[in-house]
Amino acid sequence: MRTAARTAALASGGLIALCVAILLTDYAIASRRGPKDDQLIKAEQEQVKSDAALAPKLAGEQKRITAARLARKSRDNAIAWLLILASAVFLTAAKRVVKKSLPHGRGSDRDTGSQPLVPSRDRQGAIPAPPQIDLFFVDELVAREGRGKEAAIILLQAIQSHYRYLPDEALHRLCELTEITPAEVAGTSSFYGQFRRSPVGKHVVRVCHGTACHVAGARQITEELRRHLKIPEGADTDAERLFTVDEVACLGCCSLAPVLTVDGHTSGRLTPATACHALAPFAETEPA
Ligand code: FES
Repeated sequence: MRTAARTAALASGGLIALCVAILLTDYAIASRRGPKDDQLIKAEQEQVKSDAALAPKLAGEQKRITAARLARKSRDNAIAWLLILASAVFLTAAKRVVKKSLPHGRGSDRDTGSQPLVPSRDRQGAIPAPPQIDLFFVDELVAREGRGKEAAIILLQAIQSHYRYLPDEALHRLCELTEITPAEVAGTSSFYGQFRRSPVGKHVVRVCHGTACHVAGARQITEELRRHLKIPEGADTDAERLFTVDEVACLGCCSLAPVLTVDGHTSGRLTPATACHALAPFAETEPA
């Protein structure tokens, strides 16, 4: 298992390096050729003004340059998606390799005494289906906010606010409808901490890891909540998508440390056991 994870990490790492190299090469070629092509077209346009017989040649050049640019853009888009995919595989495989390397890592049998990585099931024994993605919202949003790259953050914020995370399907549609490329979506969504790439649970638990709460045992509280909710390593949401556990900076009520909030409701002076009790009033509701 560990060998497979290591092989996957190495393969995806190589693929990432290859994709980055191709994208950089394309960028360098485009930067060098773009101005030259523009100059060529400009010069031929001047010639056509004095000699109309050169018009077909100009049209041919324009066609060739446009086709080359479109081909490069399509290739770069495909490589960007491949890069995102390879990055996801690499992160997953690398986490498995690191986890297997730790003798008593979180999520091991020693911590749980059972099989915590198996997704929990609902009352009928079935794993909840993923939420439906209604792409009509993206169509309307783009029609309202515009197709330009300058609207990228506003569009991503609106998508996140609507779906409570950034679904892949919505991002695909966004790239189809706008001038924003998959690489730009990936860069922006990973740069700003406000954006989530995985579904959020119905209730969001924010455990404060500011200085006062950290000293008072925030780490143990987070670990106990994750164990209690059987949240797998590398994830932040339980399998039923009822709770998402986030670690956040100071919540501004340090005198109550350690503190957490559930959907904005604050509980303080917690222990690992009482932290789990704080979730109880929210635990009976339906998943997101
Ligand atoms: S450090 Fe936790 S509320 Fe301030």
